[in-house]
Amino acid sequence: MKNKVVTRITGTGSYLPGHIMTNDDLSNIMDTSDEWIFSRTGIKERHLAKDETTAFMAAEAGKKALEDAGVEAAEVDLIIAGTITGDYVTPSTACEVQEKLGAVNAVAFDINAACAGFMFAFHTAHAYLQSGIYKTALVLGVETLSKILDWKDRSTCVLFGDGAGAAVVCADGEKEKELSEGNGGILAFEQGSDGRRGMALNCCGRKNRNPLTDNGWIPSYVSMDGQEVYKFAVSTVPVSIQRVLDKAGLHVEDVKYFVLHQANIRILQSVAKRLKADIGKFPVGLDHCGNMSAASVPVLLDEMNRKGALEKGDKIVMAGFGGGLTWASAVVEW
Ligand code: ACO
Repeated sequence: MKNKVVTRITGTGSYLPGHIMTNDDLSNIMDTSDEWIFSRTGIKERHLAKDETTAFMAAEAGKKALEDAGVEAAEVDLIIAGTITGDYVTPSTACEVQEKLGAVNAVAFDINAACAGFMFAFHTAHAYLQSGIYKTALVLGVETLSKILDWKDRSTCVLFGDGAGAAVVCADGEKEKELSEGNGGILAFEQGSDGRRGMALNCCGRKNRNPLTDNGWIPSYVSMDGQEVYKFAVSTVPVSIQRVLDKAGLHVEDVKYFVLHQANIRILQSVAKRLKADIGKFPVGLDHCGNMSAASVPVLLDEMNRKGALEKGDKIVMAGFGGGLTWASAVVEW
């Protein structure tokens, strides 16, 4: 019988920009209020990058994750960044992080799956590790969304924030703080995409611009059909979570925490209700971070890890969902 390679998260890290923008701060520069934003979303404040670049934040988060895992940069053989807000079209954010960390032996590339970006990167790393191609991965979710928001559109700009999260994922047998044998680690994955509904949440890139066209490039910003995205999230995410639990042979009651993408408190409440799960099992980070797209899940995971909320043997569901449309869920035994 073929041996299954067990893969585990062995360290986490995160970085939030120094500048905090509260709902009240926003109400001083646009026609909005703390009451409107908080009551509809659960968001109180978010961090916005001033001088920090996407790659800088990702590298800082990555550094902390490597320290937490006890892994040297030179041991990393795979870096994948989930992001839609890299500093350059090329080089990729992952290549910039490789350079900043001195991870000279790594293969590095980015994945574009918007708010599911970290989860898609995580699944990709897991697949590489399971196949035996690589052994030690640094998985990043990082966004500087503030640079692709229309700060004159109050219906979108109040929802988002900037930040970076990271996880070191190792194949069993590699350097780990506490390596157990047999079961555990990453138990199951489930993911999907629906390009037919992609325009519900979009940010247009560069248009054709060459001697055959007269299109000047007009910058475009995040545009969203909020209610459509809401309907997508509350119908798709519980199904995806149920599927991944079935794959792992687990039930909702077996799960200690559901670490979900932090788009909106109402989405978390609705997913909990549909799964018949205790809302207390859904940690919240959006109150102080807003929606950080690909960074939401790894930042929240790191906050929980650092405050000691995760104990060995805990079953955790992680799920991301968003632009594309895309979604992904995983079950992890800590
Ligand atoms: N402050 C004050 N008023 C506002 C603001 C604001 N920031 N934004 C919009 N409004 C006004 C609108 O102009 C509108 O006024 P009108 O009735 O006079 O025309 C009114 O509030 C209602 O606007 P809606 O867009 O219909 O607001 P809605 O109740 O749908 O709430 C929200 C918007 C919170 C985004 C909601 O659609 C939602 O929860 N969507 C879920 C999707 C989501 O959270 N997406 C985040 C990113 S996607 C992702 O991460 C997967």
